[in-house]
Amino acid sequence: MIDNPQALSSKDLMELENKYGAHNYHPLPVVLDRGEGVYVWDVEGKRYYDFLSAYSAVNQGHCNPKIINTLKEQAEKITLTSRAFYNSKLGEFDKYITDYFGFDKVLPMNTGAEAVETAIKICRKWGQEKKGYPVEKTKIIVAKDNFHGRTTTIISFSNDEVAKDGFGPYTPGFEAIPYNDLAALEEALKDDHVAGFLVEPIQGEAGVVTPDADYLRKVAELCKKNDVLFIADEIQTGIARTGSLLAVCGNCNCEASCERQPETYVRPDVLILGKALSGGAYPVSAVLADDTVMNVIKPGSHGSTFGGNPLGVAVAMTALDVVRDDKLAQNARRLGELFRAKMNEYIESSKVVQLVRGRGLLNAIVIDDSPESDTAWNICLRLRDHGLLAKPTHGNIIRFAPPLVMTEEQLLDCVDIITRTLREFE
Ligand SMILES: Cc1ncc(COP(=O)(O)O)c(C=O)c1O
Repeated sequence: MIDNPQALSSKDLMELENKYGAHNYHPLPVVLDRGEGVYVWDVEGKRYYDFLSAYSAVNQGHCNPKIINTLKEQAEKITLTSRAFYNSKLGEFDKYITDYFGFDKVLPMNTGAEAVETAIKICRKWGQEKKGYPVEKTKIIVAKDNFHGRTTTIISFSNDEVAKDGFGPYTPGFEAIPYNDLAALEEALKDDHVAGFLVEPIQGEAGVVTPDADYLRKVAELCKKNDVLFIADEIQTGIARTGSLLAVCGNCNCEASCERQPETYVRPDVLILGKALSGGAYPVSAVLADDTVMNVIKPGSHGSTFGGNPLGVAVAMTALDVVRDDKLAQNARRLGELFRAKMNEYIESSKVVQLVRGRGLLNAIVIDDSPESDTAWNICLRLRDHGLLAKPTHGNIIRFAPPLVMTEEQLLDCVDIITRTLREFE
C-alpha cells in the first residue's frame, strides 16, 4: 500500500510503473490524471491537447458527459449478468447497432483483438460449413504491415518482428499480400480455399497508410466475384474518425446512420468495431455480419464472460448517439481537410517533414529521417513541452488523431503548436 498516493509526483508514478509493471510499452514521459473533451491534464496540473485519443478510442472526447452519465446510471443498476442469462440491455443494443450499421446481426465482445479473433473464427467456420473447405486448407488473406491486435493467432500473420519474435509457434492458415495491391489480391484469390480477406481500410498503426481511392470498392467487388468474405477491421478507422461513419464509406457524405448510397458505399461482409464504440469509457467491441455468415455461430461455439454486458452495451449506444447527434463525422472531415491544408502550407518550405497524409482526423506526418532515428520521438517530447501529446509510430512517423469534438479554433491553435515545434527542428 502507498501512503497518500495523491502526493505522488509524475516522476514517482513513472518509477512505480517501471518497477512493478511489465515493460510492454514505451510511453512518452507524461502522467495523465484527468481528461475533458480534447484536453488532458498531468498530475502537476499542466494541460495538453490530446492528439492520440487513446489510439482513436476517445473520438467523442474525454469523459464525454452523456457517455459518463449512461455509465453511472447503468453501473448503479446492473453491470454484468454473463450470457448464461438474458439482460435487459443487450437486445436493445443488438437492434440499435445492427440498424445503425445496416447488418442483420452483431456479436459483442470487449477488446479489439477479441473482435478480430471472432471475425477470423466466423470466417473459417463459414468457409468450412458453407463452402466445404477442408480444415487444413482453409485460408484467410491479410495485408502486409497490418495491425489487428496482439493475440497469438493475430501476431501469426503480422510482419512486425518485434510483435512476433519469441511468441511462436504461430497459427497457420494466413497469406499476407501487399496492401493496396489489387493484382496481388486477384492472384491470391485463385487459391480454391480462400474464405476471406481481412484488411484495415486505412492502415493506422503502419503510419496512416491510405489506399488508392478505388481500392476498397475493388476489394469488395473481387471478394464478391470470388465468393469470399470481405472483412473490414474498422477498429481504429471506424465511428467517424476518418470523416465518414466508416472508412469503407470513403467519400460518402451522409450522416450516421449511414444512408448507404450504392454509388459511394462499400459494404464489407464482416465489419469489426472497437475502441470508439464506447468512447473510451469501457472496453466494447463488436463483429457485424448478415445472417448467412453470422448463423455459423451456434450456442457454445464462441463467447466471452463480459461480451454483451449491460454496462458496456448501454455505454456503446450512447457513444454512437453522440457520434450521430454531434455530427462528429462531418466535423472530422472538415477539420481534417483544414489540418492537412495547413500542414501542407508548412511542408512546402520544410526540411524536416516530408509529407502529411490521412483522412478526416486520422493523419500522420512523415519525418525526413530514418525510421531508426530518434527525431520523431524528440519532436513528440517537444510537442509535449508545448502542450500537445502525440506519439511516433514506426520510428519516423507521427500520428495526429485528436478527439473529434475539437473546434476549428482549437485545431488552429494545435496547428500553431505543431508548426512552431517543427520549426525548432529545421
Ligand atoms: C486496426 C486495429 N485492429 C485491432 C486493434 C486491437 O485492438 P485492442 O488493442 O483493443 O485489442 C487495433 C488497436 O490499435 C487496431 O488499430
